[in-house]
Amino acid sequence: MTGMNAVQPPCPECDLALDTPFTLANGTVIKNRIWKSAMSEQLADGRHNPGPGLANLYARWAQGGVGLSVSGNIMIDRNAIGQLGNVVLDERSDLAAFKAWTAAGTRNDTQFWAQLNHPGKQIVNLLSRQPVAPSAIGLSEGLERSFNKPRALTEAEIVEIIRKFGLSARLAVEAGFTGVQIHGAHGYLVSQFLSPRHNRRTDQWGGSLDQRMRFVVEVYRAIRLEVGDRVPVGIKLNSADFMHDGFAEGESMTVVETLSALGIDQIEISGGTYENPVMVSGLTASAARREAYFLEYADEVRRRIMTPLVVTGGFRSSAGMLAALRSRSTDFVGIARPLAVDPDLPRKAIRDDAFRIELRRLTTGFAVLDQVAALNVSWYEHQLRRMARNKAPDPNSMILTSVARTLIGYGVCAFKGSRIRRAEN
Ligand SMILES: Cc1cc2nc3c(=O)[nH]c(=O)nc-3n(C[C@H](O)[C@H](O)[C@H](O)COP(=O)(O)O)c2cc1C
Repeated sequence: MTGMNAVQPPCPECDLALDTPFTLANGTVIKNRIWKSAMSEQLADGRHNPGPGLANLYARWAQGGVGLSVSGNIMIDRNAIGQLGNVVLDERSDLAAFKAWTAAGTRNDTQFWAQLNHPGKQIVNLLSRQPVAPSAIGLSEGLERSFNKPRALTEAEIVEIIRKFGLSARLAVEAGFTGVQIHGAHGYLVSQFLSPRHNRRTDQWGGSLDQRMRFVVEVYRAIRLEVGDRVPVGIKLNSADFMHDGFAEGESMTVVETLSALGIDQIEISGGTYENPVMVSGLTASAARREAYFLEYADEVRRRIMTPLVVTGGFRSSAGMLAALRSRSTDFVGIARPLAVDPDLPRKAIRDDAFRIELRRLTTGFAVLDQVAALNVSWYEHQLRRMARNKAPDPNSMILTSVARTLIGYGVCAFKGSRIRRAEN
């Protein structure tokens, strides 16, 4: 035993910098370690094609020096849209609009990946009378009021959704995205299948972890079959759902090992669901120790697999980012909200080891209103909309204005939702 004060062995990674390039196994080069995590933009047009503002927004991030941008979640199924302004990518999509978006997002040698998603039961009741899910179990924790109870998918529907993931991935590559990411986190459909709390199926798609993970494995296989080995395919996955009887850390490790053995190119680590949104509220103890939320989990993953890792949630300073990279806990630092406030963050953080961004604590002062308006999301969406109009973000913008906009949005949504419901009848 050498004891606590043993001299550390030389660290070959100690000279790692935020602008050190990274080469994936398939040869894709990512020019630096700053990874823009997905933020749902809600900037699609009425037919769910990318609106023109999306090109402005992603050109701005490319200009700011980010190494890789992941798009906000793109829906793979027109009948299951998480938010009104979501982009959908299927055989009815206008690929020319997607090409304008990817041309802007890939400027300045930036990788631009499409995040593909199916929301499962996480669709507000104004948008779907009866969403689908692995099992007919509603959301809890007060969400019962805004989210309808889903019905269980049939086996044929599961197979069709898997096919749609593959199709969207092929179209994404055709449209100019340089990679694809499966949204397997935050309580959406992939994550619902993984969770013993939400997946109570007794057929081959539920039960043991092997069976619960069949869905994500088949989604990955379908995508790989469509895009081949040259296109990087990644996943954003929960370290855990942080819910009683939810998807837990030990299970998440097994999923990570399985996908890694199948050849996935990248794993982004997050956590939480709508029922317990720690992806944005954070894990306080962990953040206090090391700035980012999921680094301890990443350390354990790193001991088991060599697949490139991204840890997302909580990074705010160059020092915190560099410490995470140099400890080899992660290969990339995943960043979302700070990039909605300062798109030049990558250039600044790379240049200045003392860089730090402080984010405002967002509250109206009324807990109920904060929750209804999903403040943590709506205020940032407001910043994205500004950049989409080629305006600078406004970090001082009024919180109550975002709340008002969200509530007006809900009103429009209620109107459109009633039309959707009428159309369904
Ligand atoms: C406005 C907004 C929209 C988001 N949309 C998505 C999304 O579409 N897909 C996703 O995987 N995560 C989404 N997230 C979560 C972020 O990618 C990220 O995991 C989270 O904000 C924590 O990182 P941060 O502390 O750097 O903001 C969203 C977050 C915000 C604030």
